[in-house]
Amino acid sequence: MKNRTTLASRSIILGMALGLGSLLAACSYTNAYEAPAPCNLPTTVSYQMHVLPILTKNCYSCHSAQNYKSQNSLFNMENRAEMLNYTNPANGINNVSFMVGNIRHDSGGFQPMPKDADKLSECDIALIKAWVDAGAPNN
Ligand code: HEC
Repeated sequence: MKNRTTLASRSIILGMALGLGSLLAACSYTNAYEAPAPCNLPTTVSYQMHVLPILTKNCYSCHSAQNYKSQNSLFNMENRAEMLNYTNPANGINNVSFMVGNIRHDSGGFQPMPKDADKLSECDIALIKAWVDAGAPNN
């Protein structure tokens, strides 16, 4: 009798352990699946190679030389002086440039960009910020 009880409680414990194990496995699988893709930032961010394609795709409809006037966006991104102005932290808010604060959707006076569209991916934001931190070179 004693032996049978021990066997039964052993299998219950084993069953619980297995159940818990697969539950944990399921959780860690779900977490891994939902984790954001890692951003492999290049050592040197290139304006031509990395930044410009993001701007052309997400911003030029309102900020290209051709479109900025009709869109009242007040910022022609193809004008180097204007680009340096809006990427300069000293010309932004609390030493955060309008370029970075706007794409991060910072509060406190920034305009969320791209206007009326989805926020850029975290990797695109990190790329642009790294380029701005490097002084927005025309490289
Ligand atoms: C659908 C139009 C539209 C798109 C797309 C757009 N913008 Fe703008 N942007 C505007 C307008 C309009 C303004 C003028 C300020 C305002 O009215 O909000 C502006 C202003 C700005 C300014 C000037 C600073 C300021 O706060 O006034 C920056 C910097 C800026 N946008 C960055 C971007 C970036 C970076 C993208 C792309 C990721 C982008 N914008 C996409 C319409 C747009």
